[in-house]
Amino acid sequence: LSDYRLIVVSNRQPYVFKMVDGVPRGEMPPGGLTAAIDPLMRACGGTWIAQSNGEDDLAAMDDSGRIRVPTDAPAYSMRLLNLSDEENTGFYYGFANEGLWPLCHIAYTEPVFDAEHYGFYQSVNRRFADLVLDEINDEPAIVLIQDYHLALLPRYIREVSPDTIIGQFWHIPWPNPDILRICPWQDEILDGMLGNDLLGFHLSGDCQNFISCVDANLDAQVDPEYGLIDYRDETTLVRPFPISIDFDNLDTEARSEEVEDEMARLSRELGLNRGRILGLGIDRQDYTKGIPHRLRAVERLFEKWPQYRGRLVFLQAGATSRTSINSYMQLTIDIESAVNRINERFGHDGWQPVLYWPTSLPSTTFSALRRLASFCAESSLHDGMNLVAKEYVASRVDDDGVLILSAFAGAAQELTGSLIINPYATEQFAEAIHQALTMSDAERRIRMRQMRNTVRENNIYKWAGRIMMNLMQASTPDHSRL
Ligand code: G6P
Repeated sequence: LSDYRLIVVSNRQPYVFKMVDGVPRGEMPPGGLTAAIDPLMRACGGTWIAQSNGEDDLAAMDDSGRIRVPTDAPAYSMRLLNLSDEENTGFYYGFANEGLWPLCHIAYTEPVFDAEHYGFYQSVNRRFADLVLDEINDEPAIVLIQDYHLALLPRYIREVSPDTIIGQFWHIPWPNPDILRICPWQDEILDGMLGNDLLGFHLSGDCQNFISCVDANLDAQVDPEYGLIDYRDETTLVRPFPISIDFDNLDTEARSEEVEDEMARLSRELGLNRGRILGLGIDRQDYTKGIPHRLRAVERLFEKWPQYRGRLVFLQAGATSRTSINSYMQLTIDIESAVNRINERFGHDGWQPVLYWPTSLPSTTFSALRRLASFCAESSLHDGMNLVAKEYVASRVDDDGVLILSAFAGAAQELTGSLIINPYATEQFAEAIHQALTMSDAERRIRMRQMRNTVRENNIYKWAGRIMMNLMQASTPDHSRL
């Protein structure tokens, strides 16, 4: 690795700068991606290229346009791309989030494919490529690209710099050929991604879908068994790498005094110290997460098992997201109306059945909520992985609590100690909540211990390490060794 310059590219930046007492300070935003790759960058050095988030970035930049991060112990550089509102609307909100996002998730939201948006997606991917190529500067380099915002980037780099080692991880599912056909630029997207030496998805099903799409649309040789694609005299290795979390970090936080204090405060606020029990849903507010479906199941629970009335509080937490897109605005309306309906139907003096906190909260509050919740329900209609499920498990240092998890989240393949549900089947979902609340202590502990061992073992560092190892191997000409 030391012979290569390491360049990571993602839409979101790893450190967001804010002025504190007139001095710019970089804070790591919440989320798994940065936490996963930051340790690698700290160890290897290099450059992380991303879209700029705001004005305070400018104050932190040196004369070469770089920002050294982390602020306290600088180990690598950040280079940021400033996008105009028009570019961001077409690239990020438009093609990436109104087109590719619903295309790749089976959540029955119609993708919007607008030629103008796609034009910006192309030109912004080109702008990222220019910055990457400037950073490569004809030296040996490894470029690690993140996610669906940058599908064309691998090809744009490869065209100019054929020897650079390029890998990409796609953090969302990949559709089958029948669905991909909806995208008018499917061939160009596939061609772009085949500029990679290594292409990673969460699950082997996503890899198989991708290989089938290439086979159906491009003049390529595919080997589905070994995950190899030969195309334009290059080979791309396609492999599953189920993403994870920093287990030890969350485990340590959950045991901390700050979290204990927060638990005491929340117990009083939520009435848990007076015998109430807590059910929890945490999500970035997105229509793929099945939040209205979850609320329907909670409503059915109160209908069918009146013993939970006055006793169970269900808290839906997590910040809103992508709020200028219509389908996300509609989601907020749907959630609010479901919460109001349930609270009007069942609530009475001093007891509100559903609490809705659509804001970002400190990580200690999330840890405390996870530790306090008798169950956590993650009901994605389709999800690449779902890290919230793994975070719940990592926070349960007492080996207690029940995870209710959608069969349509990638995490369901690993977290077999959860109660697996179909979010569309309201009756079955409500029964799973009842089962969670009546499960014996012994069974809860067996299930949770088993899941904790899995997440402790398959942690985020292993994920990043496996990707780097496969990338180095994929870049050697002799793939038969893989
Ligand atoms: C998903 C995507 C990430 C994205 C995150 C938050 O997990 O795979 O690339 O960063 O959602 O979404 P946002 O649009 O706010 O970056």
